[in-house]
Amino acid sequence: MKTYLVTGGFGFIGSNFIRYVLDKQKDIGIINVDKITYAANPGNLAGYSENYKFYRVDIADKTALSKVFQENKINCAVNFAAESHVDRSIADPGIFIKTNVEGTLNLLELSMKYRVEKFLQISTDEVYGSLGASGKFNEETPLSPRSPYSASKAAADMLAMSFFHTYNMPVLISRCSNNYGPYQFPEKLMPLVIINALNDKDIPLYGDGKNVRDWIYVRDHVKGICLVLEKGKFGEVYNIGGNSEAENVDIIIYILDKLNKPRSLIKYVKDRQGHDRRYAMDFSKINAETGFLPKYNIEKGIDSTINWYKKNESWWRKILSGDYKEYYKKMYENR
Ligand code: NAD
Ligand code: TYD
Repeated sequence: MKTYLVTGGFGFIGSNFIRYVLDKQKDIGIINVDKITYAANPGNLAGYSENYKFYRVDIADKTALSKVFQENKINCAVNFAAESHVDRSIADPGIFIKTNVEGTLNLLELSMKYRVEKFLQISTDEVYGSLGASGKFNEETPLSPRSPYSASKAAADMLAMSFFHTYNMPVLISRCSNNYGPYQFPEKLMPLVIINALNDKDIPLYGDGKNVRDWIYVRDHVKGICLVLEKGKFGEVYNIGGNSEAENVDIIIYILDKLNKPRSLIKYVKDRQGHDRRYAMDFSKINAETGFLPKYNIEKGIDSTINWYKKNESWWRKILSGDYKEYYKKMYENR
């Protein structure tokens, strides 16, 4: 039995990863370390108790985090824990440095001290910055983060890689494009659009709506992470992409049409400050080294995401009626 320390396991991608691993691999135990921020939802892992343990710990609190390492023999650490929303980082960057940078440093130091056999830093294409109309990010693209969120993720990547070079620590980094799918907190574009459309509410579209993201269904990302863990080489970065570039306006129109809602729900609003224009991923390296290929095309992925949000209305109703309500109102209803 191998033990994985998974941070941020109550979040969107972390919980999809934990469910996937526990469902498929009976020889892996999971320790989930999560601070339970606004973005966490313990219900995402309801029903999982076998080979699974949870610690409510802030990764920025090294003393509390070190207890997790003292009490458990950890073979592999996968760091999902992060403040993850660009708009929030623009409004209040401090916590992004605390969690994404200081928290990652604590994990690296403790993983080194307790001789963890593999450390995977979960990162993002946003560290590369913004593309023009053509070209794609590959692993050699210089880092050029442009938001406080992406700057904090780039700093964490550089720290992680410095531990490989300086201390010969077994570090891997995966950088993925925009995820969507079940259990995504409705501050991100896809769930926000689906939920607002279901509620006949306006959909805020930033700027001219033509910013491009490369969308990946979360299950494909999770499979890519498993392949990096299985076959990745220490000290290497692996881009993970969905092969699904789309303009924001087209994503919204697709969802509205699927739900038989009028396009008049789209409201063009003031652009995000420093809004990255286009992301696109060259993921030929992970494809060549591990065989990774995304299975979901964007239509299939969005259809299945819409179905999940329709079937799991109680999941998102709880979020909308909780602490998030005020934030949601401020950000999206009064623009
Ligand atoms: P999320 O916001 O849904 O979840 C983050 C989780 O981390 C939450 O459960 C939260 O409680 C936990 N957390 C936050 N601060 C913490 C702290 N100080 N200590 C312990 N736990 C803490 O995020 P997500 O979308 O699932 O993203 C997960 C990771 O994947 C992040 O590192 C993010 O940068 C990266 N990523 C996300 C995307 C995307 O499209 N969502 C794309 C590429 C990479
Ligand atoms: P988001 O889901 O916040 O992811 P990221 O900024 O990390 O790519 O946003 C995806 C795209 O959608 C981005 O170009 C900003 C845009 N967007 C809107 O137009 N309206 C919205 O309400 C949100 C949340 C995002």
